[in-house]
Amino acid sequence: MRRPKISVIGAGNIGGECARSIAMKELGDVVLLDIPDKEGVAKGKALDLACCGPIERFDAHLVGTSNYADIAGSDVVVVTAGLPRKPGMSRDDLVDVNAKIVKSVSENIKKYAPNAIVIVVSNPLDAMVYVAWKTTGFPTNRIIGQAGALDVARFRAFLAMELGCSIEDITALLLGGHGDDMVPIPRLTSVHGIPIGELLPAEKIAAAVERAKVGGGEIVKLMGTSAWYAPSAGTVQMVEAIIRDKKRIIPSAAYCENEFGVAPNQPGKGLFVGVPAILGAKGVEKVVEIKLLPDEKKLMDESISHVRDLVAVVKTKHPEMA
Ligand code: APR
Repeated sequence: MRRPKISVIGAGNIGGECARSIAMKELGDVVLLDIPDKEGVAKGKALDLACCGPIERFDAHLVGTSNYADIAGSDVVVVTAGLPRKPGMSRDDLVDVNAKIVKSVSENIKKYAPNAIVIVVSNPLDAMVYVAWKTTGFPTNRIIGQAGALDVARFRAFLAMELGCSIEDITALLLGGHGDDMVPIPRLTSVHGIPIGELLPAEKIAAAVERAKVGGGEIVKLMGTSAWYAPSAGTVQMVEAIIRDKKRIIPSAAYCENEFGVAPNQPGKGLFVGVPAILGAKGVEKVVEIKLLPDEKKLMDESISHVRDLVAVVKTKHPEMA
């Protein structure tokens, strides 16, 4: 039986950490690809990681490259190519430059790995998933954005810090766009089945929500660039669900039309927004729709409208994606 093949485009902070984690979990062989100027970094990281194998006891073949032919036959391609945020920047500030990068990466994925499932990580996430979809033309189940896996992890981590309990026991539901646009649903957040509202006053929950929203920015301010450990962990959680066909429900930027009222009865006019999705061997196997209360629906509608505005910016600059 052949081992799964996972390609990671962009050998920077997130790409390198994704490659490490994929190898450590033995999810498959890894191709780490960057632009020709950074080929040395891609090759160096792959080699360095390969030398961890005997210590960490994993079997994975790791290749660094700038040649897209090397991604041929990939089961999953993770796109981390693009500029990260610097202090004072919002994710949206990256839309122009990263749309060009994700477009060129997607053209190569289409050419060299036409059967792959694509997980986009580049920001602004909700618009970059759209770019990958329009450029590859892949069916929507094979195009997914990583945002919710990270946002919900941040929310759970901040709640655990507040409660002084293990994060393992906290489950939370989160919808909407990445970061500032996320729509946490405290009503469906619990600690070992105990609704969070019974354990924390409303203002503490609101503070955890707020901190999760701006959690990325908090780290950018501290480090001068955007985070990579938790974004990579969220991404690899999705890779694992797909490669091992786990059918996990992971909040993901998945294509919606009728779902959550994104574009009802408008075939092909949907958007990728953060929703609970069942991830398995086919990629997004189902978007799990839940009934929202009026105030939750209002927040979700606002979030969807922001994603639509961001996608409109892409369409204006790249009419071929309209
Ligand atoms: N093809 C392949 N790789 C590219 C391309 C391209 N066309 N353009 C840029 N890259 C590479 C860069 O050379 C760099 O090595 O993408 C890598 C990005 O790495 P970092 O600068 O370390 O950024 P990182 O923190 O990994 O974030 C990557 O993910 O979460 C988002 O906002 C983040 O958009 C950013 C992306």
